[in-house]
Amino acid sequence: MKYQLDNGFLAYDHNGIGIPLLFIHGYPLSRRIWIPQLEGLSDIASMITLDIRGHGESYPFEGPYLMDLLAVDCKRLIDALNIKTPILVCGLSMGGYVTFTLFHKYPQIFRGMILTSTKPGPDSSEAKRNREVSIKNVREYGVPFIADNMLPKIVSPVTLSAKPDLVNTIRDIMIETSVQGVVGALNGMRDRPDSTPLLPHINIPVLIVHGADDQLIPIQEANSMSQQISNSRIITIPEAGHLPNLEQPEIYNKAIRDFIQSLV
Ligand code: MLT
Repeated sequence: MKYQLDNGFLAYDHNGIGIPLLFIHGYPLSRRIWIPQLEGLSDIASMITLDIRGHGESYPFEGPYLMDLLAVDCKRLIDALNIKTPILVCGLSMGGYVTFTLFHKYPQIFRGMILTSTKPGPDSSEAKRNREVSIKNVREYGVPFIADNMLPKIVSPVTLSAKPDLVNTIRDIMIETSVQGVVGALNGMRDRPDSTPLLPHINIPVLIVHGADDQLIPIQEANSMSQQISNSRIITIPEAGHLPNLEQPEIYNKAIRDFIQSLV
């Protein structure tokens, strides 16, 4: 489905029965990463998966995609869908950065939060410089160059060698992103705020799910978040990297199912 927004469209799907659950994907991915969750959780959650600006089938949008802007996009979609009850928000990596900003701006819409493969801190100076290099590279060599660089780091070594079909699917998802989308997201992530001071104020139930082999955001980040969010539980998924929902979907779905059941 498509929701008209500013000068473009946000693509989204809305499936399942139960507590409203908004999934926000990472960079440079799309709502296609949530297919195992749509398949495994439709009896327990009313799931909204969206393609954030410039990703998947949402287009065209000029960047930068500041986290504030992406959070407002999510809120506008929730309002357009006429969802009035508090929701669960599940953000993966960049989607987690958006989730923090969404909570900062609209805490009243949250029933709970699922933080996957993410961290609260801003970019270091080195990370900001790397964003500039990636922007130059994507303009010069295109999105496949970015995808091929990221692939060995985005999944665990086990996934890389044992699940070639999944790795190819992840590559396909990545290369659907436009150059404009990649640049917009890189600029937005580079300038994202520090959400660390928010953590002690997150007063809703939080599930932190992290791949044990995440090479992009190390597991220490998840452990540190769990210490700073009082009402949180953490699940570490073995043989999973940055995309545990795709690499170990059964374990991931069970973690979400248990979390939802603990809320009722
Ligand atoms: C993501 O997976 O969304 C990105 O790798 C996060 C980042 O680059 O900071």
